[in-house]
Amino acid sequence: MSNEKKVRAYTNIALIKYWGKRNEELFLPMNSSLSLTLDSFYTETSVSFDSSVSEDIFYLNDTFQDTKATEKVSRFLDLFREEAGIKLPAIVKSTNFVPTAAGLASSASGMAALAGAANLASGLNLDKTTLSTYARRGSGSATRSIFGGFVEWQMGTNNADSCALKVDDASWDIGMVTVVVNDKQKAVSSRVGMKNTVATSPFYPSWLESTAVDLRNIKSAILKKDFEQVGEITESNGMKMHATMLGANPPLSYWEPDSVRAMQAVRDLRQSGIPCYFTMDAGPNVKVLCRLSDGQKIKDYLSNIFNPTQLIISGPGKDIEEITD
Ligand code: ADP
Ligand code: DP6
Repeated sequence: MSNEKKVRAYTNIALIKYWGKRNEELFLPMNSSLSLTLDSFYTETSVSFDSSVSEDIFYLNDTFQDTKATEKVSRFLDLFREEAGIKLPAIVKSTNFVPTAAGLASSASGMAALAGAANLASGLNLDKTTLSTYARRGSGSATRSIFGGFVEWQMGTNNADSCALKVDDASWDIGMVTVVVNDKQKAVSSRVGMKNTVATSPFYPSWLESTAVDLRNIKSAILKKDFEQVGEITESNGMKMHATMLGANPPLSYWEPDSVRAMQAVRDLRQSGIPCYFTMDAGPNVKVLCRLSDGQKIKDYLSNIFNPTQLIISGPGKDIEEITD
């Protein structure tokens, strides 16, 4: 286990959402998306290819994982084994500093960290852009977690060019307050939810058209550091994604009563002169895009409705990184 090294990858929250694949096997998305990487939520993973075990072994949060969870990791590691000509099983140890499968993007940081650790253990030394195409094959949103700041996942035309690109390092006054409405595992995974939405929602073609426009506009707002415009586009794009899934058959909604309460609180805050905007993913939790310098004020206000332990302030996260304990 001489080559065991830990890699940390931060989660990201999409401001322009990915919600649908055009190629399930290669994880090629229906549209390009754009996110902000966050510093408060991350995953740390080590991989070692090891002749002392007979099959892949996966520990998540110090818990031995069953065949189903391990198979997903095994299939992903096969991409690295094939490329590097490695025939050995692997021991994978991962810790999520983010709730798993609760709409807080554990799949993004989880698969990006796994890609980074496999890259080290296999000796492939892929550059970050290429690494993002590998991360993509674990989970689409993981593509964007290879980089910090504002990151675009360009839909591309094939396996090699559907990759992440850093748009801006977000080293300005920007961050998010996450409202953890419920951190239990959700009933419908993003994977299943998006597949059904693409297949059945009559709103899907308009979603794609309008997302392409949102992406163009948000990139130009980011480059101008126009926070209000970034926020308005974010809030609108997130709501359109949820409208599209409400149109699926059967209709899909991840909202809970507290999600709606959080959204209303954000509107109230805005009314009171604090610029902030919400977005939601495949879960009931609400993420509030804000000036990082307003984070505490927003948390204090939301503490009238939620327990302070449900409110987590994040600044922009960094690129994937190798860490030593
Ligand atoms: P989330 O909203 O947390 O991203 P998903 O249902 O989209 O929820 O993804 C959760 C899945 O991501 C898990 O079931 C697991 O397969 C994968 N995952 C999460 N964390 C890790 C990790 N640290 N290492 C490998 N895979 C992970
Ligand atoms: C709503 O990346 O979790 O968070 O590619 O099937 O693993 P798979 O899905 P995943 O979906 C993320 C959906 C989203 C929007 C986004 O992050 O862009």
